[in-house]
Order: sequence, then C-alpha cells, then structure tokens
Amino acid sequence: MSSEFLKIGQITDMHIGEDESLVQGIDVRANFRKAIESESMRDLDLLVLSGDLANEDAEPGAYRYFVDFIKSYPVPVCVIPGNHDRIEVMEKFFDLSGKVQNGKCFYRYDIKGRSIFFLDSACGEVSSEQLDWLKVETAKVKDEVILFVHHPPCYCGHRFMDLRYHMKNMVEVQETLKSIKNLTHIFTGHYHSQFEVSMGRQIVHVAPSTQMQIDPNVPYFNLQSSNPGWQVIKWEKNFVETEVYFE
Ligand SMILES: [Fe+2]
Repeated sequence: MSSEFLKIGQITDMHIGEDESLVQGIDVRANFRKAIESESMRDLDLLVLSGDLANEDAEPGAYRYFVDFIKSYPVPVCVIPGNHDRIEVMEKFFDLSGKVQNGKCFYRYDIKGRSIFFLDSACGEVSSEQLDWLKVETAKVKDEVILFVHHPPCYCGHRFMDLRYHMKNMVEVQETLKSIKNLTHIFTGHYHSQFEVSMGRQIVHVAPSTQMQIDPNVPYFNLQSSNPGWQVIKWEKNFVETEVYFE
C-alpha cells in the first residue's frame, strides 16, 4: 500500500428533484453546491455520492444534473444508489459498465494502490449475492479496505430512522462484515444525521445529508436543519481520519 494518504469526499442524500423547484422548501441544488465548493473538499482524490441522489423516485432530471456536474469535475466520482434511486434509470445516465449484476450496483474501485468496495442497499437490504462477493473479493486484498453502502448496517440511536428505515437484514450483513478482517471502516448515509457507531472492532461512519438533517431524538419526523452536511475521509496506511462539516 502506498504511504501517501487518500482524501475522499463523501456526499450523500442530496435528494435532487426533477427540476430546480424547491424540495420540501429547500434549495437542494444550492445545498449540494455548498458542500462541493467548500474549502474542505479541495484536493480530493475521489468523490463518493453514496445514494439518494434523486429526491423521491429516481427522477431523471436529478441524474442529468449529476452527470453534467461530473463531466467537468476534476477527480473520479463513484456512485451507489439509495432507496430513492433506481439502478435501471441511473444506468441510462451514468457509466456503470461492469458495476451492475442482477439489477444491483456493487463493485470494487482501486485507486492509488487502495481498494474501495461499494454495495447496493437500495431495496433496504444487501443481497446475499453481494455479501458472498464481498467476502471473496476483500480476501484477495492483503491491505486494509474500506466500504461504502447507503444504509448503516446497524442501529445508530436515531429514534425515527432506526424505527422506520433501518437496514432490514442487518444481522446477516453484520455477520459478513465482522468476518472480514481487513475491513475496519464502513461509510454510510441514509439517516440524515451524523453518527459514528462501533460494531465490535469496526466503525460505521454515518455521514449527514446535503438535503437536510432529521432530528434523531424523537420517534417521528422532525426537521432539525435544512443546512447541508458532508464528510471528508483521509485514509493513510492503517489510519482513517474523518471530519464532518455542516454549512
Ligand atoms: Fe436514504
């Protein structure tokens, strides 16, 4: 593994609509731009868009917006779907060749001698096909790997999201993840709130949304903030540092 660090920007749950209309009263495109243009996101090696690119149900206008953005973005961009995305629509816009099997978008991406894994939890769970693949592929890498998946594979202490929208097969997923010895850091979104949760020796980093933050302290939907949040990951050999930013 190379000794220089890798700087990864993670932006999640952008919930971009079909056009420029406000989404639940929020200018989600302006929120996305605030994150991407932030000083903290300079000099990235990689940008990850970790699901819920589209607002409700895979609006093509949302994907058109991101494809236009990616065209002139100076570093590679990796994308995975969230529960508001549909891979069959995304495939019409993004180059996902070699990344989609049986309707699921999961893949390994190698950059600067590191291997990053991506899973598809758009339907609310991770298929056993993906879990089997992950075990086999991570075993081929002798150094540490990291993983991105839209849904946190554990409860996070968010009263509303844990209750209503948790990953459905988290027990099965946790069993697989725990068996992967060279995986310590798992990066997720979906909860519209920031968390860092220990899962044994593994840490689940839940990035905030650029659309809005949801109050974690009540068991019903309560808007906490319509300001964007995002995560920056610095990955050195055997050392991962994360920083979460809010506008
Ligand atoms: Fe989501």
